[in-house]
Amino acid sequence: MRTEVAIIGGGPSGLLLSQLLNKAGVATVILERSSREHVLSRIRAGVLEWGTVQMLHEAGVSDRMEAEGDPHDGCYFTDDDLMVHVNFHELTGKRVMVYGQTEVTTDLYEAQDAMGTTIVHNVEDVVIQDPTTNAPYVEYTVNGERRRLDCAYVAGCDGFHGVSRKTIPEDKRKEFERVYPFGWLGVLSRTKPSHHELVYANSSNGFALASMRSQTLSRYYVQVPLTDKVDEWSDERFWTKLQSCLPADVAGSMETGPSIEKSIAPLRSFVNEPLRWGRLFLVGDSAHIVPPTGAKGLNLAASDVFYLYNALVDALKKGDETGIDGYSERALTRIWKAMRFSWQMTTMLHQFEGEDSFAGQMRKATLKHLSQSETARRDLAENYIGLPY
Ligand code: FAD
Ligand code: DHB
Repeated sequence: MRTEVAIIGGGPSGLLLSQLLNKAGVATVILERSSREHVLSRIRAGVLEWGTVQMLHEAGVSDRMEAEGDPHDGCYFTDDDLMVHVNFHELTGKRVMVYGQTEVTTDLYEAQDAMGTTIVHNVEDVVIQDPTTNAPYVEYTVNGERRRLDCAYVAGCDGFHGVSRKTIPEDKRKEFERVYPFGWLGVLSRTKPSHHELVYANSSNGFALASMRSQTLSRYYVQVPLTDKVDEWSDERFWTKLQSCLPADVAGSMETGPSIEKSIAPLRSFVNEPLRWGRLFLVGDSAHIVPPTGAKGLNLAASDVFYLYNALVDALKKGDETGIDGYSERALTRIWKAMRFSWQMTTMLHQFEGEDSFAGQMRKATLKHLSQSETARRDLAENYIGLPY
């Protein structure tokens, strides 16, 4: 098989890149390790920056998001019973969209099917060959048969555990990492959200987040030690812990019910530099991971796609390689700013095991300052709605 851009990974990065390239007349083939059902069953991000919303419009996949997504003007940050409202719309003129990653991915698969794009599922042993030459190719196995895909460029959209990043020799790249000493236990439940906007809570009982997918579907998280296992958390234990972290007003009006999904995600900050090796480009989680506190993971993947999509169209349609030459540096500048924000939000809102008494006072002072300073709220709002591309 031959194509212009071979895309490794059919998660949000790979699908969005493929959809935008196809719309611009560039041919792609997507190689995905899992089944489509598996990709669509992973409950992950829930908040889209306005730039991501605009890209979904540009990709022609915004109809359902417009009908079913929920634009939010702001959200709350709390310290025990102190509730600080940050009104993004008043402070920046922009909003965010609450629309789940599974919905975005579903819409993209549907659009790619309509385009007739080849998406090969259940591929194994993907190997990217000769990325530093003018004739790279990708080898993979499907149904027990070894196959070859020739291409002009390879986009590594295969997440943190994929092969693309590891294809770059260790002496040609650098990794930066911080692992946090806790995870997030997440629960999805068919209940009315406890508040009309998201609530990020710092409390003497630890961090919690009250989020949602719709008016009848809630998504909640609490901070847990990394050693905890999901089966140690009955629904009852989860609801009790969650309510103990949220302000009394929010906890008091909370509807509880059986969980329909429950999982623990570790928190990590990670960046691989550079994002390019010859004709191989890293996109999204294959190159970087943020702790989820700032809702930046999926949105950073979208901004990488924006830079790379424009660069590849210029290279393939106009023979202009300035975009691909500048891709890594351009994308990394925005990535590091989102890293800083996610790290700062994580530090502002979580208890760190073994921390000194000073740390808790710093969190309290930060939240107090946020409640009293419009400048601090504007800074947070600018970052939360997404820095410009
Ligand atoms: P992925 O979504 O990881 O997609 C990569 C795809 O590549 C996958 O489908 C995988 O099967 C495939 N793949 C992997 N290896 C290979 C291979 N060798 N060959 C072929 N295909 C391969 N972000 C937020 O903003 N908020 C959240 O609440 C949030 N929660 C998260 C919870 C978890 C458990 C995780 C892991 C991430 C979460 N994120 C969250 C981050 C967000 O979901 C990611 O940033 C986003 O999914 C990145 O998209 P991606 O397409 O780059 O990578
Ligand atoms: C969700 C997850 C986040 O990490 C976040 O910051 C906001 C919302 C969510 O899953 O709804």
